[in-house]
Amino acid sequence: MHRLDEWWRGAAIYQVYVRSFADANGDGVGDLAGVRSRLRYLAELGVDALWFSPWYASPMADGGYDVADYRAIHPHFGDLAQAEQLIAEALDLGIRTIVDIVPNHASDQHPWFRRALEAGPGSPERERFWFRPGRGPDGHLPPNNWQSQFGGAAWTRVPDGEWYLHRFAAAQPDLNWQHPEVRREHEEVLRFWFDRGAAGVRVDSAAEVVKDPALPDLPSGRAPDPHPYFDRDEIHDVYRDWRKVAESYTPPRALIGEVWLPDPERFARYLRPDELHTAFNFGFLTCPWDAGRLRETISSTLAAHQPVGAPATWVLANHDVTRTVTRYGRAETGFDFAAKAHGIPTDLALGRRRARAAALLSLALPGSVYLYQGEELGLPEVEDLPVDVIDDPMFHRTAGADPGRDGCRVPLPWGGGTAPFGFTSTAAGAPDTAVDAWLPQPSQWSELTVERQSADPASLLNLYRAALRLRHAEPGLGDGTMTWLPSAPQVLCFSRSATFACVANLGGVPVDLPVHREVLLSSAVLMDHQLPPDTAAWLRLP
Ligand code: NOJ
Repeated sequence: MHRLDEWWRGAAIYQVYVRSFADANGDGVGDLAGVRSRLRYLAELGVDALWFSPWYASPMADGGYDVADYRAIHPHFGDLAQAEQLIAEALDLGIRTIVDIVPNHASDQHPWFRRALEAGPGSPERERFWFRPGRGPDGHLPPNNWQSQFGGAAWTRVPDGEWYLHRFAAAQPDLNWQHPEVRREHEEVLRFWFDRGAAGVRVDSAAEVVKDPALPDLPSGRAPDPHPYFDRDEIHDVYRDWRKVAESYTPPRALIGEVWLPDPERFARYLRPDELHTAFNFGFLTCPWDAGRLRETISSTLAAHQPVGAPATWVLANHDVTRTVTRYGRAETGFDFAAKAHGIPTDLALGRRRARAAALLSLALPGSVYLYQGEELGLPEVEDLPVDVIDDPMFHRTAGADPGRDGCRVPLPWGGGTAPFGFTSTAAGAPDTAVDAWLPQPSQWSELTVERQSADPASLLNLYRAALRLRHAEPGLGDGTMTWLPSAPQVLCFSRSATFACVANLGGVPVDLPVHREVLLSSAVLMDHQLPPDTAAWLRLP
């Protein structure tokens, strides 16, 4: 039996990308007051918790994943008092708060990094990061051949000739987790947010935090084992310490890892009973719309979690990947299914149909489920943003070869017929002013607003609301187990209890529904007891 306070085992968690959620002060950028003004919307949607992408003081070189002060709120978003108020108000509506912790790197404007620059080579201040002399006769070559995940070298040279490591943008220097102060500081940051009512943390780039201090070159070809900066064994000590911090609270706080690891066994190590509580399941997110491959992914996910006793998570979208309706509207694009690849023909009507079915599928699977803001509206990826508004360092560091991630970060359309669709409002609540949203919304989004979809019983928003309501009421849903039921190869069919089943037809022809007493919910209209292509249904079994 699981403890009652283990809410995270079966929760529906909604990711808020604050900058793009709702703007209450009319400057074109979302803020905490905007989130507070929409808490009722989130409660009516039926989510159990909110995960906020970083809301800290930051130069925003990577949308806030470059933190200058882990204890302060970005002035564009509000202040600490507002964050505390938001956490409390959400809890009054039964919604918990998860904050994003970014341990791998800080901002180059973080006081530690500024002091390290001032203190110079060989100083203790530089030990908190990875400073090294360069190679070559005058040190003009980077210390090793590591590449940034955003393109280009993972090293930048400072005026005194040393180089520092940054696995992401140059404005995100990597921290040295061998340093005791780095470890202590992060434990204090955890306590800081837990003391303010955060029910848990999402751990950014959780498998990349620890480095081999020898900083060896990466050999070409096969990845070395152990890898110098990825999934190193020492990392687990960090999370064991964090678990002790989380468990020192009543109720215990939850640790949720962003762990991109294709090997399920290595992945599960992060979820041992004294480490992280759960981690995002990217195998599911990157799996193409194919029944055989999804069945295999679901089964191997559950098999990997079983020995460590951790619940699985089901994720279809976040602020880093192509939006679901666009992805599912494309022919299969291999393992990089979730990656940005603009210019590929997309059938949005098909994508929308599949996204509806995928919603019912993911909400029926055992464990917790994540929803990224706008997913409940079926927003497509915006693939034609003007180049001069693109902010994402991934786009800029690759000179546009990678379209970047701004296309899934376009502000939400709330209501009205023209942009900014109620995203931006003045403090006095006057209608939209002339201020543009920080990224422009397509004019067609007038059909996808919350207002429009609320009034349409057949909208995706109302499907999510109904499904989340049922998920709460249905004892078999959320945490627990599932059993595959016999089905045609292109169909996924499983039960969650003696009386509840989910069935999804991913094939091209209608199939008969299994024997049932009642259809509780379906992602499309059913005819003659048949499930049309790209449709899912929840069934009451006899
Ligand atoms: C993962 C985050 O989700 C992504 O948005 C960010 O750019 C990197 N980690 C670096 O913090």
